[in-house]
Amino acid sequence: MKSTIQIVFFVLYFSFTMNSIHVLSGSSKSKSFSYILSCGASGSDGTDADGRKWSPDIKFLASSGNSETATAQFQDPSLPSTVPYMNVRIFRSTSSYKFSVSPKTRLWLRLHFYPSNYNNLDPSMAYFSVIANGFTLLKNFSASITAKALTLAYIAREFSLTPVESGDLNVTITPSTEQSGSYAFINGIEVIPMPDIFKKPAVLVEYSDQFVDVQSSSLQTMFRINIGGQSIAPNNDSGLTRTWYDDSPYLFGAAIGVTSEVGKNVRIQYSKDVTEDIAPLNVYSTARTMGPDPKVNKNYNLTWVFQVDANFTYVVRLHFCEYQVTKINQRVFDVFVNNQTAESGADVIGWAGSQGIPVYKDYAAYVTDQSGDDEIWVALHPTVSMKPEYYDAILNGLEVFKVNDTDANLAGPNPVPSEMLVNAEAAEKEFSPSASRVGPLLGGVAGGLTGCVLVVAVFVFVNKKNNVGKDCKMGNWLPLYGNSHTSTSKSTISGKSNTDSHLSSLAAGLCRHFSLWEIKHGTKNFDESQVIGLGGFGKVYRGTIDGGTNVAIKRSNPSSEQGVYEFQTEIEMLSKLRHRHLVSLIGFCEEDGEMILVYYYMANGTLREHLYKSNKHPLSWKQRLEICIGAARGLHYLHTGARYTIIHRDVKTTNILLDENWVAKVSDFGLSKTGPNLNQGHVSTMVKGSFGYLDPEYFRRQQLTEKSDVYSFGVVLFEVLCARPALNANLPKEQASLADWAGHCQRKGTLHEIIDPHLRGKINPECLKKFADTAEKCVSNHGIDRPSMGDVLWNLEFSLQLEKNPGMVVAAEKKANKA
Ligand SMILES: *[C@@H]1O[C@H](CO)[C@@H](O)[C@H](O)[C@H]1NC(C)=O
Ligand SMILES: *[C@@H]1O[C@H](CO)[C@@H](O)[C@H](O)[C@H]1NC(C)=O
Ligand SMILES: *[C@@H]1O[C@H](CO)[C@@H](O)[C@H](O)[C@H]1NC(C)=O
Ligand SMILES: *[C@@H]1O[C@H](CO)[C@@H](O)[C@H](O)[C@H]1NC(C)=O
Ligand SMILES: *[C@@H]1O[C@H](CO)[C@@H](O)[C@H](O)[C@H]1NC(C)=O
Ligand SMILES: *[C@@H]1O[C@H](CO)[C@@H](O)[C@H](O)[C@H]1NC(C)=O
Ligand SMILES: *[C@@H]1O[C@H](CO)[C@@H](O)[C@H](O)[C@H]1NC(C)=O
Repeated sequence: MKSTIQIVFFVLYFSFTMNSIHVLSGSSKSKSFSYILSCGASGSDGTDADGRKWSPDIKFLASSGNSETATAQFQDPSLPSTVPYMNVRIFRSTSSYKFSVSPKTRLWLRLHFYPSNYNNLDPSMAYFSVIANGFTLLKNFSASITAKALTLAYIAREFSLTPVESGDLNVTITPSTEQSGSYAFINGIEVIPMPDIFKKPAVLVEYSDQFVDVQSSSLQTMFRINIGGQSIAPNNDSGLTRTWYDDSPYLFGAAIGVTSEVGKNVRIQYSKDVTEDIAPLNVYSTARTMGPDPKVNKNYNLTWVFQVDANFTYVVRLHFCEYQVTKINQRVFDVFVNNQTAESGADVIGWAGSQGIPVYKDYAAYVTDQSGDDEIWVALHPTVSMKPEYYDAILNGLEVFKVNDTDANLAGPNPVPSEMLVNAEAAEKEFSPSASRVGPLLGGVAGGLTGCVLVVAVFVFVNKKNNVGKDCKMGNWLPLYGNSHTSTSKSTISGKSNTDSHLSSLAAGLCRHFSLWEIKHGTKNFDESQVIGLGGFGKVYRGTIDGGTNVAIKRSNPSSEQGVYEFQTEIEMLSKLRHRHLVSLIGFCEEDGEMILVYYYMANGTLREHLYKSNKHPLSWKQRLEICIGAARGLHYLHTGARYTIIHRDVKTTNILLDENWVAKVSDFGLSKTGPNLNQGHVSTMVKGSFGYLDPEYFRRQQLTEKSDVYSFGVVLFEVLCARPALNANLPKEQASLADWAGHCQRKGTLHEIIDPHLRGKINPECLKKFADTAEKCVSNHGIDRPSMGDVLWNLEFSLQLEKNPGMVVAAEKKANKA
């Protein structure tokens, strides 16, 4: 069984930071105003976490008689701020908002929904439609189902409305009449004038003589990606408050090319056709290309895949800017959209005239549901027939917009929450009486570790059925913007460094480059007898280099899908980090399609093999404590010691290694992400990690914080104490998950019954209490209730003191209370 899950959330997060009234120059000469409304709010303006002002909506209601206002009874911890989500306006019958806007100006309309329990109304009863200036934006929309399927607490949708002659924008909200007792609600509305970025018709791929008239259509923003670069925060987007996301979740296959950034010698300059309204400089200053090897490039397509709704036309906008080559016919490639040739012989220099000039191209494609998957594929491949100097391709940015159909409709069906989530939720209801206390709160109730246990079962089943794990991607259908933003996500992050992540450039740095010959020589040509481990990445061999130094050699399995990316992450992370409690990378080898990492050999293997399921001599309690303290130090360093917070994401007992002196070393950085270096920040990302150790909050909301590592580390602590796996499906349901079961026993005061028999009676009770309290806090359901890694470390050191010197309890406790 694969130990890592790869549930990919095809969700785009969204955040806005524009300040209330903004005058945008451009197409309209008259002043155009933005409306930023917190629906149902009364009195004065409210301010969100970004300092944006949200005004009450009452003035803009065309008919307010049939609406009521309310405040949510539960504040989901993932809400970025109370404004505009905690207040709501509820409608029992058709109602309209009316805004006075500049005529002939395209508008962004952003709608915010937080499905929650308002005035004791059941959120799952709300079904409604939204129509704006004759365009149906939402129909039979259930925010509750959508949020559940997306495992998000709240939803935001962005539409771009075609300009109208009159100076009015009408937004009409109608509760569905099909379900009795149905009602409508909305938490926030933004109306923002936008520059006309859809002037040109888009060519329909496959029918080069047909165009889609984008200008007279309304659109829904589906995806907005900064290819090969980091996320771009809304306040860094030329005043247009768009958010651009990292492309790594959308890359398809194992060959994902290389990323790069514009060099200092090239200046990117806008032109008459492409201004910063089209995309900010940051988009054009990073790119993904195919890589240096023409033979490899000839044999693969650089591919991104996006999930969308069927039966709509989509405009795919590709942003290009060449900053590496300078001449025509140096880099020439084909562009495929949904397996059709959209462009043959694309030559960015040819289009732009020279280096450093951005260009963009729009392609339209109709997505049917016959093709089965409701996906948009964008693929690049060198045009070999043109005999370019380099067999390569480049892409800098990408946007996908849904175009209204002939009925002026943009609404798709509600997503279907995955079987996994439905089961997990049922499990939670069944096993966790405490769930009912929380009430029918929404937006991903799937949590709870008992939930996760069931998820594992489903996952294993799915994975067997379909090895590539396509079904395992949650949100296959997810075409929409999720919304989950924090005010601190501005400096957001992708797992990559800003610098050119091309591997050969790393070789020049801290990291040594090995030849394949050296590696083969040192491992007896990868002899099976040398294998010391097996991971998601591939096999780990024991070997020697330089005539005797013992090393561990991790060889990527070529069929490992995430391989290349994780390989790069690990090299980048480890070549920058040096710490006594982190494994040290000696170097790597990239040759002949092999990806190999070379580490110092850890004579005592993994922590797990000294805990259970082996015939090794059991570790003493003091040894175990010292190992936990070492690992905690390593993680604490990752979280706070480096320039950026680094979140390990896969903390478990097999990733804690022990050297010949029993010094603990945290290993396996393949999944690591750098996070914002602010404490309250989080990284939105794909859920990865190992079951049994997975932070339930991360699982629900795919928001990664260093507290996710703290959770996993709490599981490690219980594992060390109880000497049993984090997840044991053979045990009765309530015992299967160690975090759940140990937490339960700890609260019941029966923890002593489940600790490792080798330890019984051998731990000082004060020490055990401190240790167990710490572990229990680490596995708290909510990240905010968990201690920081620094606190964990302090508490573990304290329990070690208690073990060594029980007499000190009183004095130390006093000190602790003071601190
Ligand atoms: C908005 O609604 C008003 C009536 O409520 C109507 O007169 C006006 O034409 C509508 N405007 C648009 C653009 O549909
Ligand atoms: C798409 O259109 C076809 C044919 O009209 C219809 O059978 C199908 O249900 C539609 N699919 C969706 C997702 O609306
Ligand atoms: C494109 O082709 C691949 C296989 O070559 C297939 O898996 C995929 O579904 C196709 N995509 C579309 C949108 O037709
Ligand atoms: C690249 O994609 C196109 C369109 O789907 C396909 O025809 C071609 O075979 C692909 N090439 C490779 C090397 O996968
Ligand atoms: C979108 O709706 C408008 C107004 O009804 C219509 O003129 C336009 O043709 C529609 N777009 C498409 C692609 O059908
Ligand atoms: C409305 O949405 C619900 C939930 O997705 C679905 O079961 C129902 O069939 C939909 N009704 C219509 C008329 O589309
Ligand atoms: C905006 O982008 C620039 C250039 O990448 C970066 O230095 C700056 O920190 C960014 N600002 C914010 C608020 O993200």
